[in-house]
Amino acid sequence: MAIYQATASAPVNIACIKYWGKRDTKLILPTNSSLSVTLDQDHLRSTTTSRADPSFEKDRLWLNSAEEEIKEGGRLSTCIREMKRMRKEVENKDASLPKLSTYAVHICSRNNFPTAAGLASSASGFAALVASLAALYQLPASPSELSLIARQGSGSACRSLFGGFVAWEMGSKPDGSDSLAVEVAPREHWPDIHALICVVSDDKKGTSSTSGMQRTVETSTLLQHRIKYVVPERMEAISAAIRARDFDSFARITMQDSNQFHAVALDTDPPIFYMNDVSRAIIALIVEYNRVAVAAGGKLKAAYTYDAGPNAVIYAPKENLKEIVELIVKYFPQAEPFKDPFALFGGAGVQGRVVD
Ligand code: DP6
Repeated sequence: MAIYQATASAPVNIACIKYWGKRDTKLILPTNSSLSVTLDQDHLRSTTTSRADPSFEKDRLWLNSAEEEIKEGGRLSTCIREMKRMRKEVENKDASLPKLSTYAVHICSRNNFPTAAGLASSASGFAALVASLAALYQLPASPSELSLIARQGSGSACRSLFGGFVAWEMGSKPDGSDSLAVEVAPREHWPDIHALICVVSDDKKGTSSTSGMQRTVETSTLLQHRIKYVVPERMEAISAAIRARDFDSFARITMQDSNQFHAVALDTDPPIFYMNDVSRAIIALIVEYNRVAVAAGGKLKAAYTYDAGPNAVIYAPKENLKEIVELIVKYFPQAEPFKDPFALFGGAGVQGRVVD
């Protein structure tokens, strides 16, 4: 009796140009393109095993050992349905293949970091889900094609199908068939860039990305300016900076875009505050660190960015990391860098971890 099972894993990605706003909430089509860096060490990953069997009665999913409901018409069921549809197309072309598209699946997913830590677990989670089903079904699909499905699980998940530097092109077709992830440059193109994650708080966030961005679309006039006049140019400029390995431009654009994303959150009615006093203190530290470097005739040495929560991600060339960690530890004495990755999430205070 054959066993049909496959395992895949996907890492978290952190955006430099932020996705914030949907033009179609069902298909998850964004109001602007975005660009991220996929973190590539072993921690901050989701690993997912999918199994198809004729004896299974219905699709089921376990996340970190607890069963999650697969709601009819919800994001999980959409992704599973779309992957089965792709499998069916393959089966239609080759009658000798087992009819896996007709079997129910059991899916088991695990994050090697706490799900509620304010890090992008839905991005790695849906990317790993889609990758494991693609392996199970032996689909001849490219990462960009799979990104079309992962996008419908969580927008940012489409970018975790690739490593390195990844753009999510917003596309223009109403059916979303051109709203997909593409590689800007592989990781090996610029291995010198590292990310330092500072977990400021591991509380579950107050306003979810999904509801927060919807409120922004409905109420913020600044978002309209951002979509039309700011992001298209920034996408071009940061892609060029990545291709040229120009950290100064990359850092400047990354910080500007994080700032504008949080300004747009503040411009939402009622306003959304994702950063807290510690987040702002880290910004002040990085600004001062860069100011001193530039005043001495040098270039920017680090870039901060914040998603929909208070935790900082600091991008920097490897040679500056030691200095940055020392600064963080000096000004945030409760910080505990370089421990076991799980110690990161111990509680309040800034805790850091260097991630390649
Ligand atoms: C601030 O991808 O979590 O991290 O599509 O509703 O699931 P949904 O939202 P999600 O939003 C991520 C927002 C962000 C910016 C980014 O990753 O680009």
